[in-house]
Amino acid sequence: AMVLFRSFVCLLVLYLLQGSDTSLVRLNNNGYEGIIIAINPGVPENEALIEKIKDMVTAASTYLFEATERRFFFKNVSILIPDTWKENPQYRRPKHESYTHADVLVAPPTLPDRDEPYTKHFKLCEEKGEYIHFTPDFVLGKKQKEYGPADRLLVHEWAHLRWGVFDEYNDDEPFYSASSKRIEATRCSTGITGVNRVYKCQGNSCVFNKCKIDPKTKLYEKNCQFFPDKDQTEKTSIMFMQGITSVVKFCNKQNHNEEAPSLQNKKCEFRSTWEVISNSEDFKNTTPMVESPPSPVFSLLRIRDRIVCLVLDKSGSMAGYNRLNRMNQAAKYFLLQAVENGTWVGMVHFDSTANIKSKLIQIISTNERNMLVNSLPIAPSGGTSICAGIKAAFQTIREIYSQLDGSEVVLLTDGEDNSAKSCLYEVKESGAIIHFIALGPSADHAVIEMSDVTGGKHLFVSDEVQNNGLIDAFGTLASGNADISQKSIEIESKGLTLNNNHWMNGTVIIDSTVGKDTFFLITWVTQQPIISLLDPNGTPMNISTVDAASKMAYFSIPGTAKVGVWTYSLQAKANSETLTITVNSRAANSSVAPITVNAKMNKDTNSFPSPMIVYAEILQGHIPILGANVTAFIESSSGKTEVLELFDNGAEGADTFKDDGVYSRYFTAYSENGRYSLKVRAHAGTNTAARNLRHPPNRAAYIPGWVVDEKIEGNPPRPEINKDTQTNLESFTRTAIGSAFVVSNISTFPLPDLYPPSQITDLEATPDGDMINLTWTAPGDNFDVGKVKQYIIRISGSILDLRDKFDDALQVNTTDLLPNEANSKETFTFKPGNISEKNATHIFIAIQSVDNSSLTSKVSNIAQVALFIPQGDTDEIHPNPNPGISISSLVLLVVGCVVLVTIILSVTIYILKKKKNPNRPSTAF
Ligand SMILES: *[C@@H]1O[C@H](CO)[C@@H](O)[C@H](O)[C@H]1NC(C)=O
Ligand SMILES: *[C@@H]1O[C@H](CO)[C@@H](O)[C@H](O)[C@H]1NC(C)=O
Ligand SMILES: *[C@@H]1O[C@H](CO)[C@@H](O)[C@H](O)[C@H]1NC(C)=O
Ligand SMILES: *[C@@H]1O[C@H](CO)[C@@H](O)[C@H](O)[C@H]1NC(C)=O
Ligand SMILES: *[C@@H]1O[C@H](CO)[C@@H](O)[C@H](O)[C@H]1NC(C)=O
Ligand SMILES: *[C@@H]1O[C@H](CO)[C@@H](O)[C@H](O)[C@H]1NC(C)=O
Ligand SMILES: *[C@@H]1O[C@H](CO)[C@@H](O)[C@H](O)[C@H]1NC(C)=O
Repeated sequence: AMVLFRSFVCLLVLYLLQGSDTSLVRLNNNGYEGIIIAINPGVPENEALIEKIKDMVTAASTYLFEATERRFFFKNVSILIPDTWKENPQYRRPKHESYTHADVLVAPPTLPDRDEPYTKHFKLCEEKGEYIHFTPDFVLGKKQKEYGPADRLLVHEWAHLRWGVFDEYNDDEPFYSASSKRIEATRCSTGITGVNRVYKCQGNSCVFNKCKIDPKTKLYEKNCQFFPDKDQTEKTSIMFMQGITSVVKFCNKQNHNEEAPSLQNKKCEFRSTWEVISNSEDFKNTTPMVESPPSPVFSLLRIRDRIVCLVLDKSGSMAGYNRLNRMNQAAKYFLLQAVENGTWVGMVHFDSTANIKSKLIQIISTNERNMLVNSLPIAPSGGTSICAGIKAAFQTIREIYSQLDGSEVVLLTDGEDNSAKSCLYEVKESGAIIHFIALGPSADHAVIEMSDVTGGKHLFVSDEVQNNGLIDAFGTLASGNADISQKSIEIESKGLTLNNNHWMNGTVIIDSTVGKDTFFLITWVTQQPIISLLDPNGTPMNISTVDAASKMAYFSIPGTAKVGVWTYSLQAKANSETLTITVNSRAANSSVAPITVNAKMNKDTNSFPSPMIVYAEILQGHIPILGANVTAFIESSSGKTEVLELFDNGAEGADTFKDDGVYSRYFTAYSENGRYSLKVRAHAGTNTAARNLRHPPNRAAYIPGWVVDEKIEGNPPRPEINKDTQTNLESFTRTAIGSAFVVSNISTFPLPDLYPPSQITDLEATPDGDMINLTWTAPGDNFDVGKVKQYIIRISGSILDLRDKFDDALQVNTTDLLPNEANSKETFTFKPGNISEKNATHIFIAIQSVDNSSLTSKVSNIAQVALFIPQGDTDEIHPNPNPGISISSLVLLVVGCVVLVTIILSVTIYILKKKKNPNRPSTAF
């Protein structure tokens, strides 16, 4: 396994920057503004790339405009240029634009030869995605044969990203048996013509063979592909193959193919892509344009030095809950460890007035870090004037830089300030980014808008010291533009309240992807504890510094920390003492991407009782990490914590894709109005976690070739990595925090049960003689928590009847089916009764769950078993004596195998849905 690991690591790409937190795109009338296309620092300098991006977006704008019936176009676009590229007078300094908000990343492929574009989208249908990933070769037009024109592909990906529609092809289920009793390629619309062939190349000689039917699946064999006709007239759909010249529209209600097992059908309840787009806010807020849209305008922005000004509240209320000292501990941690080398840092204190305590100084060595630490506030007093603090920060920055563009203000406050709105306009116009750390339940809400409009972070920290929120918050303020190898990564963060002489013992795993600049920070509230730290060899470490005034001590491990298990023991020396430990590190090697965790909620504000979803994404570079144990801690403003285990099982409605490294869960346990914080812990033991080298979800369709004048012209076969390739991973731990979110309208009256069980989305049916076996993942009493009371299973010969009139369909006796806890595997075997449809081709099956308050879930995905052997293609290729890249003659024959089909029809029930792969490692759910 070690050999595999090493060779794999070499393939990983340098300089990975991860994608979008939230997009800054606005729709202004019909034009999208503020789109960010970010060129990764790992991309070698190449001005042609900038020109190609411009050409792509310009052409895409016209295509988008026509595709959306004159509704949308790309109005202005910022291209972010890395600081590894040469300076150019054309390049300006970015304002709010940063890599964290990129809509399109132009970055090297995740693995060599993986130039397929894809959109990172792990939320629900209709919700926005994270970002689009294009490789430099794709943008440069070197992959046009395989993926079609870049501009059309951009529109396809934009539809994923902006409107939350899904693909109308499906690599996992490329064919299905249609109600016409034929095998059809999964597509929309069925008006797209082409042929199904197996295309095999050995050396330079390639052959196209007719697809055989796999006796197990009753569908075409594994390597069968759909080759579209180059010349055709069908206009839909862009979410199927926008590369076909005639395709200029999305499938709509009239021409949508509801039968195909496409992700669009599965995730969007069989609605067409155009219906979903028409239901978006974008669509509702616009009317079609009469005149033609202008061409997009581009700004070229190059990343510059990072500038940060801390604006720290020292008002009287900071004396409560030990807030001032906690702020100082956290700020010291930021200054000594978290902030990147090369950053310019200044400091302002404020109460009712503001004071510049440190001009901007550039961090070159520990000297500058220590100088800044000595400027922290000592005594709290006075009121709260947020605007005074921000204006002083602007002044501090302007002393060095005439423009505030792209500089960051970290504002920490615990108080309310009615006048905070008075500088909102100035802040918006300044070009600076405001990060807002709200401490305690009364911190001002007006400032949220400042962080929102400037693309800054909004973080919430309660007064529960053992949750370590303040240190986590400062730790997360890494640069949005720094190379991942420079960023501080949190390995551990926990705390405990203990009585005198009691121990807080534990271990911290340093995995091989991290270890540089490793820092163990210990804090206390009353009395310095006894502290010991042993490296993986059991050698005791010497404390680097004890800061008795700030009640903190730390170990700064020189060089690269040893890989393995580090052991700490802390003994409290006072009653009700609260101790915390935080461990941070950086990438061990700038050419190996570290494992990272990114935590977020599906939205920033929520009105009760609408449910929310927690997401934690675990990646190494862009590669998903599977099999980790992931726990979310959601804390309300008064410090009440809800703990949830997250899953990557693709089953519960909350988790869109299985095995994509995104772990998720519904959250409904609201306890009060106000801010909430999110923290996630991920850990994995040796060989429990694995990298998933499968292709990403929402990847662009690969055009295998074209049918031209009745001949097939094949493209080189797609470079495939075995779909199920996973490489095991060493053990690791990580913690991460997400942005604050605000919940309102919580009822003060006792309420009835509001939450039904979540929708089952992974129902599968397998025929077994005259019985049908069903499997699915159990939902819970409230979405995916608890246990449902009962399952209602119904069957029908008509997919539409089952979907639209579920309650009228034939019910299966489920008296013997006792539900299990949420997220466990359910199985059920039954003998189907007689369905009413006389000439049915399939039995369709769906489940609804009922909870203890008789609330019912949405009807599950629809599983099916075929009642016939579907008919293959009716065309035929003559065997070619001299097989070559293109086949010289393709004769279409109509083969009458109907008779055969009819004979077999009565035999038994056949499986339609492909079984899942049994080789997947079990992930202990
Ligand atoms: C995009 O257009 C908006 C409105 O016209 C303007 O405020 C903004 O500065 C423009 N951005 C760029 C990058 O040109
Ligand atoms: C930052 O600079 C210090 C002192 O020069 C050095 O020890 C440290 O490794 C540097 N950190 C990174 C991430 O380069
Ligand atoms: C914690 O570790 C210390 C030192 O290794 C040990 O003496 C003590 O017994 C441990 N305490 C507990 C509760 O495990
Ligand atoms: C992960 O969670 C599972 C189930 O909760 C548990 O059995 C397993 O021991 C955990 N693994 C680790 C490494 O903690
Ligand atoms: C169906 O389920 C039964 C009972 O769980 C099992 O013995 C049988 O092997 C299953 N059949 C198939 C085809 O999976
Ligand atoms: C359902 O099955 C149970 C147990 O197998 C049986 O007792 C009951 O009579 C059945 N109900 C109906 C309506 O057939
Ligand atoms: C079923 O098929 C038969 C023969 O093809 C046809 O006559 C009949 O109308 C069909 N019934 C329905 C309900 O479609």
